[in-house]
Amino acid sequence: MAYKKENYEKLKIEVIEHNYNYHVLDQPKISDYEFDQLFSELLKIETAHPEWVTEDSPSYRVGGDPLKEFEKADHRLPMLSLQNTYSTEEITAYDERLKKFLKSDRDITYFCSPKFDGLAVELIYENGLLTRALTRGDGTTGEVVTANIKTIKSLPLKLNTKNPPELLEVRGEILIFKDDFKIMNYTQQERGLQVFANPRNAAAGTIRQLDPKIAASRPLRIFCYAPGVTQGIQFKSQSDFEKQIQEWGLPTVHHESEKQSFSKFKDHFNKLPKAIRDYQINAPQAEDLDDIKEFRKKSLEITHQFTSRSFSKACTSIKEVIEYYEYINDVRHSLPFDIDGIVIKVNDYKLQEELGQVARSPRWAAAAKFAPEQAETIINEIKVQVGRTGALTPVAIMEPIKVGGVTITHATLHNQDEIDRKDIRVGDSVIVQRAGDVIPEVVEVLKNKRSKDSKKFKIPSKCPSCKEKVVKPEGEVVSRCINILCPSIVSQSLKHFVSRRAMNIDKLGDRIIDIFLEEGMISGFSDLYRLKAEDIEKLDRQGKKSSQNIVASIEKSKNISLNRFIYALGIRFVGEQTARALANHYRSLDRFLEAQHEELIEIEDIGPKVAESIVKALENKNFVKEIKELVKQGIQFESSAKPVQSDSPLTGKKVVITGTLPIGRNDLKDQLETLGAIISGSVSKKTDYVIVGDDPGSKFEKAKSLKVEILDWEKLKPLLP
Ligand code: IVH
Repeated sequence: MAYKKENYEKLKIEVIEHNYNYHVLDQPKISDYEFDQLFSELLKIETAHPEWVTEDSPSYRVGGDPLKEFEKADHRLPMLSLQNTYSTEEITAYDERLKKFLKSDRDITYFCSPKFDGLAVELIYENGLLTRALTRGDGTTGEVVTANIKTIKSLPLKLNTKNPPELLEVRGEILIFKDDFKIMNYTQQERGLQVFANPRNAAAGTIRQLDPKIAASRPLRIFCYAPGVTQGIQFKSQSDFEKQIQEWGLPTVHHESEKQSFSKFKDHFNKLPKAIRDYQINAPQAEDLDDIKEFRKKSLEITHQFTSRSFSKACTSIKEVIEYYEYINDVRHSLPFDIDGIVIKVNDYKLQEELGQVARSPRWAAAAKFAPEQAETIINEIKVQVGRTGALTPVAIMEPIKVGGVTITHATLHNQDEIDRKDIRVGDSVIVQRAGDVIPEVVEVLKNKRSKDSKKFKIPSKCPSCKEKVVKPEGEVVSRCINILCPSIVSQSLKHFVSRRAMNIDKLGDRIIDIFLEEGMISGFSDLYRLKAEDIEKLDRQGKKSSQNIVASIEKSKNISLNRFIYALGIRFVGEQTARALANHYRSLDRFLEAQHEELIEIEDIGPKVAESIVKALENKNFVKEIKELVKQGIQFESSAKPVQSDSPLTGKKVVITGTLPIGRNDLKDQLETLGAIISGSVSKKTDYVIVGDDPGSKFEKAKSLKVEILDWEKLKPLLP
């Protein structure tokens, strides 16, 4: 097909605008589906005409080929650090130092903003195009991370102006918002990938990925806050700079001018309903995919309410700066991103020049840090918890202590290595901290306060629940109980089995499961289906009606979809998304039970670690016996696969589908499965056919390069039942 360059340019601008509406304004004008359509059309034209593609094409945002290593480059102007202050007194002293240096009593106007807790980068725009991005590095030399930075959807690849300056260097902070972080960690965990301790680590870990596709898949954001070298433009002040770059489309936190009174500034925030302000503090941990969708919707809405408000302010005196500092300290937990203080900058750039720098920090700016969210307490005991997957986790039980507005009594000690590294003992005085939304942690032991009675702690070699020997595979830091009959594992597994997103046996709460276990009425999943109302009634405090309700809700769970059933089994690393992929692929329980490693890793979303865990679980005879027992007890799968036809040209063939076909994906998969085809998510040398519809993805390219036979709709249609 012949394309016209002008149409391509038009389409490109359209995609850029929709990107901006969605990611910067949080006000999409078209659906995700429509956006995807426009975007794939753009990619199609670019494949046909690579010579038309310029640096500002949104196609750069999906990430190109992985790098071998990061190139290093010098900053034209060093990226300095900030002198720190830690209290209102120190802020006042800072102001006095500046006035003394300037030999003037006049009030200085300071531009104050939150001190974002992320990592600093420098963006370089040449004639309006983003051509290069560097990490701060040691301040003099950074790493070239352009491809990763370009994946940040809220960042313009081209400045929104007809007259861009020849050169604009902008410094800013890369962040991951707190809500995005929760969702990201959930997904990482589901896929058996690394989870991060806090948003800052996640952002830093992402920018340092050599494969930009990973960065593209993570929810990075940026706030810009300072100029580097510029040519063809001069800014008068920090407020002038921020206003200008905001007009050009660069993300900043909004600011209030010096004319705006302080109470008006606060009003902005206070006008947010309390429920919204509290949301960031009390937001639930996302537990499953549906929760996440709900959570995502809510958090986008809330994030927008926040980010469209002013968080920076030009303060006309040091008194206002202090007011700002105290105010931001009060509201910091309600903000959608982590901050660790404020940054105070002399607003006027001429005055900045006059003030100059001392050593590696400018005299014209200072950080005012908040008191860390840490507190001192005593460890009374260390308990070991056994999780559903058998992992032994040491947990410190402490004297209750308030940290960042929340009383805490437990802190995770992670594992033995961590305990040894920090030399944590029972009876120790420790500093604990709550970092964002993660479980409280012990930061350090106050060794000078250590009493003679403090006791070293070793994770037991026997499981605290079943007393069987635990294992610690070489190279792993976690000790694990591998006794599938371990009461702790059984209890946790049963609770997972009956949970809402699994078998949804809603009348079975945690407490009653523990009672059934203690009474010896159940020991595995299938026992639930053997329970009789009369037996339950005999237990303390169980009435006739509630016993019947329990049995009825167990009975109701017998009709279940295959994916929920697989999820309910609680195989390590098999979260909901993976369970769905497995059910879609195998379509029947029997076929799933035969799953092999090579086939598993062909399935989209399943990596070697997850595959290994599945194979291991299915090698366990007791586990498989229990599953078969469940089927005997009457578990039935909704929409189970139809009988397989065995004389079609597609029988036993590995097929991959890409692009849009005249019938729905799931319909097509069903039909192919009845013919006995094995559907896989990715193309490899072992693939027999790739079914190609309209707008095929990269799988089509891969099929061509591996010379896999292609079936289009014309060829496929006659083969379908
Ligand atoms: S302005 C001379 N503004 O703080 C440096 N920096 O210690 C001028 N930072 O590495 C920087 N939020 O990553 C500035 N609103 C803000 C900031 C900010 C965080 C970080 C930045 C830098 C560090 C300086």
